[in-house]
Amino acid sequence: MGATTQVLADHGRCSLPTKLLGCFLFALFTLTLVYFIFYSPPASFISYTDTFVQLKTHHQTTKNSSLPPPQAAWLLCDYSDGKWVWDDSVTGPRYDSENCDMKSTEKCVVNGKPDKGYLHWRWQPAGCNLSALNPAEFLRLVRGKHLAFVGDSTARNQAEALVCFLSSVARPEMAHRYEERLGRKFWRWVFPAPHRVNVSTYWSPLLVRAEGHSEDYAMTQQAVVLDALTEPWTADVGAMDVMVISAGHWFPRPAMYYEDGEVVGVYSRPDVNKTDIGYLGVYRKVIRRTLEYVDAKSSTGGDKLVVVATIAPAHFDSKYGWNHRDACSRTKPYEDGEAEVATADAELRNVVLEEVATAAAKTTRRRGGVQFEVLDVTKMATMRPDGHPGPYLFAHAYDGRPVPETVGNDCLHWCAPGLVDTFNDILAKMIVAGV
Ligand SMILES: *[C@@H]1O[C@H](CO)[C@@H](O)[C@H](O)[C@H]1NC(C)=O
Ligand SMILES: *[C@@H]1O[C@H](CO)[C@@H](O)[C@H](O)[C@H]1NC(C)=O
Ligand SMILES: *[C@@H]1O[C@H](CO)[C@@H](O)[C@H](O)[C@H]1NC(C)=O
Ligand SMILES: *[C@@H]1O[C@H](CO)[C@@H](O)[C@H](O)[C@H]1NC(C)=O
Repeated sequence: MGATTQVLADHGRCSLPTKLLGCFLFALFTLTLVYFIFYSPPASFISYTDTFVQLKTHHQTTKNSSLPPPQAAWLLCDYSDGKWVWDDSVTGPRYDSENCDMKSTEKCVVNGKPDKGYLHWRWQPAGCNLSALNPAEFLRLVRGKHLAFVGDSTARNQAEALVCFLSSVARPEMAHRYEERLGRKFWRWVFPAPHRVNVSTYWSPLLVRAEGHSEDYAMTQQAVVLDALTEPWTADVGAMDVMVISAGHWFPRPAMYYEDGEVVGVYSRPDVNKTDIGYLGVYRKVIRRTLEYVDAKSSTGGDKLVVVATIAPAHFDSKYGWNHRDACSRTKPYEDGEAEVATADAELRNVVLEEVATAAAKTTRRRGGVQFEVLDVTKMATMRPDGHPGPYLFAHAYDGRPVPETVGNDCLHWCAPGLVDTFNDILAKMIVAGV
C-alpha cells in the first residue's frame, strides 16, 4: 500500500484557477438560458447546476418540447451541491461493521478511530433533503437484481458499505471470493430468497487491461492497453441490472499507452523517447469506450441503470509525508470556502460529466433500455478530510496509546459507516427513479 499512497500523495492538490471557474460559470449561465428557452420545467425545484445536468443528460428534449419532463424525481434535486451539517439525532454508527464482510482497514469503529465526528455529519443538499437508504426497502426495490460495482478500490469501498448496511436486515452468502495477491478481484454476495439480490465487485482499476503497477505495487510503471476491453467485468455486463463504475485514481500515474498493438504515447515517462500525451485524454477515451461497450451489450436486455461516479479525492496533507501520523488527522469537514476542488480532480470530474451526457444522448435516441447517470461526489468528498481511516487500519489499532509519528495511513478510502454511505443514499434515489 505504501507505493500507492505515496503516488497519490505526490499527485498534488492545488486550488481551482478563478479563470477556469469563470468560464465554467459563464457556460453554465448560457446553458441555463438555452434550457429555459427550449424547455420549461417547474423552475422552483431546479437549481442552476441541476439544470446543467438535466440539459446534458436529456439533451434531446430540447429538440422535442412535447416529450414529458424527466419523471425521475431525483433529477429535481442536485445532490452534488450542498454542505455537511452536524446531525445531533445520530446516536451511533448506522450499522455494525464488526461482523460484516468488509476490508478491515475501513472498519474505523472497530479499529478505534478516536474522533467519532465522521459518523455525525449529514449531507444537506442545497435544494432538497436526502434521506438515508432503508435497507429493507432497498432490498425490496432491487429484488431479483444484480448490482455490480466495477473499477478500483473506491468501487469496492462503496459496495462493501452497501453490503454491510443491507446485512443488518438480511444475511448474505458469499458466492464468489477470489483471494489473489492483491485481494478481492471479484467478489459476489448473494442475498437469498425472497430477496435474490446479488452484489458483485469487479476489480478493474483502469477499466481496460493494464499491466505493471496495478498488478504489482512494487512496479512503479504501468502499461495500459486502451483498446483491450477484455477485463472480467465485460463478460458479465449483460447480467448487470445496476452497474456502478468508479475509476480515476489509477490514471494520473506514469504509464505507457498501447492501442492497435502500438505505443501511442506515455504519461510521465521521461526515461523513454515517446510523446507524453497526458492521462486526461486517455481517461476520456477509456470512459467513452466503456460506456459504448456497455450500451452495445445492453441494447437487447432489460432495463439497466449505469452510474459513473466522479472522483472522490484523497486527503494527504502536503505539509506532511504520506506516512506521518498527521497525514489526514483533521477531525472536522472543511468549512465552506476553506477548500476547493483541485484542478486535477475537476478535470477528471468533467470528463465523467461530459462522457455520461454523450452516452445518455446516444442511447435514448436508439431507445435502448440503458439509463446513464452521474454519481457526482467530488465536492462532497473534497469537503471531508476527516472521513478517512488514517492510521487506524487494524482492529483496536492503538486503544488509547499514542500513534507513532511514522505510520501507514489510508487517506484515500472512506470509513464505513461514514460518508461513503451517502454515495449509496444517492444511488438508492437513482434506482427508485430509474429501474
Ligand atoms: C416528439 O415526440 C413525440 C413523442 O415521442 C412524437 O410523437 C413526435 O412525433 C415528436 N415530434 C417531433 C417534432 O419530433
Ligand atoms: C427538509 O427537511 C426539513 C426539516 O425536516 C424541512 O423543514 C424542509 O421543508 C425539507 N425540505 C424539503 C425541500 O423537503
Ligand atoms: C446471483 O448469483 C448466483 C450465483 O453466482 C447466480 O446463480 C444467480 O443467477 C445470480 N442472480 C442474479 C439476479 O444475478
Ligand atoms: C527519439 O525518437 C525520435 C523519433 O522516433 C528520433 O528521431 C530521435 O532520434 C529519438 N531521440 C533519441 C535521443 O533517441
